[in-house]
Amino acid sequence: MILTTIQDAAKLSQIRDLALAPRGHEKIDWALAHMPILRQLQEEFSQTRPFAGMRIGVCLHIEAKTACLALAVQAAGAEVAIAASNPLSTQDDVVAALVERGIVAFAKRGVNEEEFARQIDQVLDFNPQALIDDGADLSSKLHLHRPEQANQIIGGCEETTTGITRLSAMARSGELRYPMMAVNDAYCKHLFDNRYGTGQSAWEGIIRATNLSVAGSTAVIVGYGFVGKGLAMRARGLGAKVIVTEVNPVRALEAVMDGFEVMPIVEAARLGDFFVTATGNVAVIDEDALAVMKDGAILTNAGHFDVEISKPALFRLSLHKKKVREHVEQYSMKDGRSLYLLAEGRLVNLICADGHPVEVMDLTFAMQFLGLEYVIRHRLEPGLHSMPVELDMRVAKMRLSAWGMKLDELTPEQSAYLNSWK
Ligand SMILES: NC(=O)c1ccc[n+]([C@@H]2O[C@H](COP(=O)([O-])OP(=O)(O)OC[C@H]3O[C@@H](n4cnc5c(N)ncnc54)[C@H](O)[C@@H]3O)[C@@H](O)[C@H]2O)c1
Repeated sequence: MILTTIQDAAKLSQIRDLALAPRGHEKIDWALAHMPILRQLQEEFSQTRPFAGMRIGVCLHIEAKTACLALAVQAAGAEVAIAASNPLSTQDDVVAALVERGIVAFAKRGVNEEEFARQIDQVLDFNPQALIDDGADLSSKLHLHRPEQANQIIGGCEETTTGITRLSAMARSGELRYPMMAVNDAYCKHLFDNRYGTGQSAWEGIIRATNLSVAGSTAVIVGYGFVGKGLAMRARGLGAKVIVTEVNPVRALEAVMDGFEVMPIVEAARLGDFFVTATGNVAVIDEDALAVMKDGAILTNAGHFDVEISKPALFRLSLHKKKVREHVEQYSMKDGRSLYLLAEGRLVNLICADGHPVEVMDLTFAMQFLGLEYVIRHRLEPGLHSMPVELDMRVAKMRLSAWGMKLDELTPEQSAYLNSWK
């Protein structure tokens, strides 16, 4: 049974246009057909209904795979309200389809910052008892501006590295008021989503937006975390010469041993044709680097927030900007060069493409779904919690089985050997 009736959902929601729903349904059906793990968990939880009678607030990039998660949570008994975790990544047809399936949505592609912030407030106005977050926007807003609501939150889960950085800071200062599951830190999230998901989808976005050749180019990857590793690996596969910039010596060494050149960003800036940032940090491409880049360089970001490529510095160094293709802005620099910024410096893979491949998001959203169920079932203490490793093993097994692959099992002798020390 859908708790929020479709009429209620349509009345409460604020979206672009309900008439876009048919195309959204097609996209959702395609995604779900390729998400066997989520389908299986949905089937299980629609019997056990772990979220029966609960209101759950969701803040994620709204595209077809996310829609499948929201619908799975609804099938597990919850009323769901959703807002976007980025003003440009929303797919309006998917939002409309969600509303037609009884989910309350506050999301429109391309809204300004003010409206974007209001949509997150609207999800909190829904009085959620649990949260599914991506970037910790719901939790940050709730703690800063609506602390009285913290007592009613049983718990939640957080998807991305940047969200966990923010929640860790809250937990360290003793301010995190409810339990949050650090889904990003699970193997079945960061090993596959951050690396293979972003590796494929960010280049897909760059290629769709520019129609330029990666082969023969020099690609500069800023940050060699799990996202950076995927970006560098796929850039090499596409035929680019790859340079990595890092601040962490171990990560930099890893990049060198993986066969990439490592140098400071101001040196790499002179050489790159494509720049992709993936650090979760601010102004990692700043004025000094922008000042020496080649004419025609392409600037893109795959990190969570649009702060990695310094837009204030771009403004200072340029005379004007204009849109030259969908999601491509040309900055005409005072010294006569042009630099091109994709997707306003926001997540290139979600704005210029459809985000990660479906199978990868099947893993990520299975982890989100199981993580939330775990937090709710165990009524964990306030703070940031790690996903139990059994959930990783369960999801990995399900993905292998969906691909028709089997693995060995330890014999009793092997188990005994691994557990002995004599
Ligand atoms: N686009 C997507 O769909 C997607 C998917 C997953 C994660 N993310 C986001 O991508 C970002 C990176 O995630 P991750 O999991 O790789 O994080 P991570 O912490 O594993 O890696 C980040 C790396 O950046 C490096 N770094 C920090 N400041 C730097 C600087 N000034 N110059 C060069 N390197 C610097 C760090 O040393 C670290 O090695 C986060 O914001 C995360 O939320 C995006």
